[in-house]
Amino acid sequence: QNLNDYKLWLKYNKIENHDLSQAYSKTTNAVYIANIGDIIKNAKRELSLALPQMLGTQVTYESSITSETTLIIDVFNNLPEDLKLAVKKNIENINKEGFIIQSISRNNTPLTIITSKEEIGLLYGTFRFLREMQMHENISAKTIVDSPKIQLRMLNHWDNLDRSVERGYAGFSLWNWQKLPEYIDQRYIDYARANASIGINATVLTNVNANALVLTPMYLEKVEALANVFRSYGIQVYLTARFSAPIEIGNLETADPLDKNVQEWWSNKAAEIYKRIPDFGGFLVKANSEGQPGPQNYGRNHVDGANMMATALKPFGGNVIWRAFVYSEHDDTDRAKQAYDEFLPYDGSFKDNVIVQVKNGPIDFQPREPFHPMFGAYKKTPLAIEFQITQEYLGFSTHLVFLPKLFEEILDIDTYQKGTGSTIAKIIDGSLYGNKLTTMAGVTNIGTDLNWTGHPFAQANWYGFGRLAWDPNLNSGQIADEWIRTTYTNDKAFVEPIKKMMLTSREAVVNYMNPLGLHHIFDTGHHYGPGPWVDDLGRPDWNPVYYHNADKNGIGFDRTTSGSNALEQYAPFLEKAYSNTNTIPEEYLLWFHHLPWDYKLNNGEILWDGIALKYQEGVDQVDDMIKTWEAAKPFLNEEQFNEVHMLLQIQLKEAKWWRDACLLYFQTFSNLPLPKGVEKPA
Ligand code: GCU
Repeated sequence: QNLNDYKLWLKYNKIENHDLSQAYSKTTNAVYIANIGDIIKNAKRELSLALPQMLGTQVTYESSITSETTLIIDVFNNLPEDLKLAVKKNIENINKEGFIIQSISRNNTPLTIITSKEEIGLLYGTFRFLREMQMHENISAKTIVDSPKIQLRMLNHWDNLDRSVERGYAGFSLWNWQKLPEYIDQRYIDYARANASIGINATVLTNVNANALVLTPMYLEKVEALANVFRSYGIQVYLTARFSAPIEIGNLETADPLDKNVQEWWSNKAAEIYKRIPDFGGFLVKANSEGQPGPQNYGRNHVDGANMMATALKPFGGNVIWRAFVYSEHDDTDRAKQAYDEFLPYDGSFKDNVIVQVKNGPIDFQPREPFHPMFGAYKKTPLAIEFQITQEYLGFSTHLVFLPKLFEEILDIDTYQKGTGSTIAKIIDGSLYGNKLTTMAGVTNIGTDLNWTGHPFAQANWYGFGRLAWDPNLNSGQIADEWIRTTYTNDKAFVEPIKKMMLTSREAVVNYMNPLGLHHIFDTGHHYGPGPWVDDLGRPDWNPVYYHNADKNGIGFDRTTSGSNALEQYAPFLEKAYSNTNTIPEEYLLWFHHLPWDYKLNNGEILWDGIALKYQEGVDQVDDMIKTWEAAKPFLNEEQFNEVHMLLQIQLKEAKWWRDACLLYFQTFSNLPLPKGVEKPA
């Protein structure tokens, strides 16, 4: 791994173009930066790191605004009257975390203003200013008025206290519990910088499969130390709360949410935490899911459990984020239906500081899923969307897959639950149903690897998640563009082909793993390679055969009225469109339909041929990615080039493995030859 990759998208490479460098030097010649708190100190630190690197000059800071000042960074209320007037119109268009970057002429001198309503906006504005420079944009020629559209832009770490990371493929957990609280690793600061630079403002430090010990004083002291670092970057800390904690660390006999002692225990625990961390965010809870304890162990329901914790946190302004990732081995209903069935009756029954967190799809972070039917159906309770940035089902940190393409696809989908235009983005940002709490969560892909994410291109998934949490209407192409230019170079000859490679990479992985709506045909446990033949797990809903249902008659999961009727959980318009094989988008075909091998696809191919050709297409796409990378060699140093090149070779080998394994297996049912154009398995 490349040492330079540690710097992520904050590389601040030297600007070689003389005119540009001169122009930026002029803008940053005399900087006035208000001294109003710890957050702005970090903005100043970032400028002092970035500007000398990019421009080769030291920054001169002024202690007050003078006629020489070229750049002002201060909140609106502190600005001199004439400057207030200049930015007034724009200030009305930002929220409390937003910012304005505006250039004006003052006494015939060009002046750039970064301003906001609150201190945090200045940090975001400064990072944006620096990004514009990294992207060689003409800052003084434009006015940037920007605010986050979602309140909680949150990372979920699945980090255990022993520093292993569930579904983590980039080394160990960043949190060095043994050395905390005294030892503050520089990495915590760089983690906070990276997050703040893209607007992430909350982090859950621990795994949803929670260990109650993190709520004991010994650990809370360490959590407090982390919170102290993150606070000055605008990041709030959350913890996962194990439902049975009152028994495990509180010596109670029960964790029944209606038991007075249990309620009191959680209230005391909340008070204890807030005493240390006054801006603590709250709890993320996985309950009665995959063996985790929960209110149902005591004959209670999700509302009882969530509201009990919400009551404990409420006096301190904390939230409960209650996950809806539930499905039971004792229930033979289609797994894709269970969360909706179980949670729908509770819509509106939760306290106002409860957020229900729903994965983007109804199964589990597959390369492609239709959206989770709770989106749009849940109207009164705020929903958080949970994306997975770590690539559990998408080739770990070995395969190059640009996920913002997946995130964007989901956010743009119209659920039709409140007429046309009921997109998931509008549900998540609160604009559709007017929810007060808005949240986007991403299960992170970060660890102790030198480059943070294992695969250098997986950094783009962290970056892209943050950008979309800031603004769910952003386009994945723009995100790729920003990331490439800040991470590598602004040279079009590099940017354009690499962007194209990134934007096709998601479809490639769908093609070589799970084409045409196939899903969950991964090998047991690790979810890395193919395992469509697996049929012997204790829980039938973990067996791939449960999901593809291949037999001599055909393949696919019938979720229409003749099958599980999962389609009834979608709005009537989609239910109808998806029920009909002529109107369903083909990428969802086998998710909702069981079809004969000779079923005719839109392009006239029979289903068997179509599946086989998709697998081949996926392999060919990876082949093309390698060619693109090879052509980009002149822009890369040897290490950079080789690292991704080696990873792409593995990806190609494994794309073929997927293709051959799945086709050889499915062929035992279809009994049909491979169509022309599909490489014969070796
Ligand atoms: C998946 C994943 C688990 C994780 C679970 C969850 O099933 O494989 O490791 O705990 O999701 O989201 O709770």
